[in-house]
Amino acid sequence: MKGGKRLLPNVLIIQVRTTLAPSFPLGYDARMKSKNNKKSYSPKARKNHFGFSTINAVDKAKKVRSVFDNVASQYDLMNDLMSLGIHRLWKSAFIDCLDPHPEMNLIDVGGGTGDIAFKFLESGGGHVTVCDVNNKMINIGKERAINKGILTGIDWLNGDAEKLPVPENTFDAFTTAFCIRNVTNMECALSEAHRVLRPGGHFLCLEFSEVVLPVLKKIYDTYSLNVLPWLGKIVANDEKSYRYLVESIRRFPNQNQFSSMITNAGLKKVKYLNLSGGIATIHSAWRI
Ligand SMILES: C[S@@+](CC[C@H](N)C(=O)[O-])C[C@H]1O[C@@H](n2cnc3c(N)ncnc32)[C@H](O)[C@@H]1O
Repeated sequence: MKGGKRLLPNVLIIQVRTTLAPSFPLGYDARMKSKNNKKSYSPKARKNHFGFSTINAVDKAKKVRSVFDNVASQYDLMNDLMSLGIHRLWKSAFIDCLDPHPEMNLIDVGGGTGDIAFKFLESGGGHVTVCDVNNKMINIGKERAINKGILTGIDWLNGDAEKLPVPENTFDAFTTAFCIRNVTNMECALSEAHRVLRPGGHFLCLEFSEVVLPVLKKIYDTYSLNVLPWLGKIVANDEKSYRYLVESIRRFPNQNQFSSMITNAGLKKVKYLNLSGGIATIHSAWRI
């Protein structure tokens, strides 16, 4: 996890660990952990979660899409307000771990309004394909790119993380930031990451995770479960979508569980780096 520590103040990065990919019970997810999960995956027969609610897996994608349709116009403002700007530091640390260079060809899945793509290009990256299932988010990203004067080195693609519309062995790096917890079948999305990476390619995922400091956990729980939906109501007039976003964080596997899922997708050298005491975590792995 080269460089992550360099970029953030110590208080923001509390813990660095390499995981040994333990086995864990993940309920419905764990049953689909092989690389062949597409064969065994039958969404109709399965349940999934939408925040704290249990729903039919087939309904999840539509519900998630409607959340991001609703939040798209206020997404960047709300990100700054909700995280007090700290998401920018997390994303900088993420890009630092990626270590962009002019020959690097990146796919950023669930790239939304383009934060990761822009930081990648600004840090010397070669080419980025932003793939997102939601056109409203992509369109805001395109506008931002024009405003920033970024006209080359970036492609925008409408597509699902579970079925990426790109050939195998294509990219030097695969990033996904705050997206994967919204995906119906995360195993399938990880398997897709493995497929589209070329051998030697780097997988990086930035996602909310389990807070590892008890005192911080209490404050964070109170803040996220009460203040964030309230902020969503006041600023974006949409308490429901922001409640989903908070609940989906609680549902997401913890650091070790998610590391196991990455390992099960066939990626190697799986590691993670906690940011801000585990509020967010960078997961790193390689296609060998
Ligand atoms: C919380 S936003 C993160 C956006 C951006 N990566 C960032 O860090 O600011 C999650 C994004 O994931 C996208 N998304 C959700 N489910 C997806 C899926 N199955 N495939 C591709 N993108 C998806 C949403 O449309 C949304 O743009």
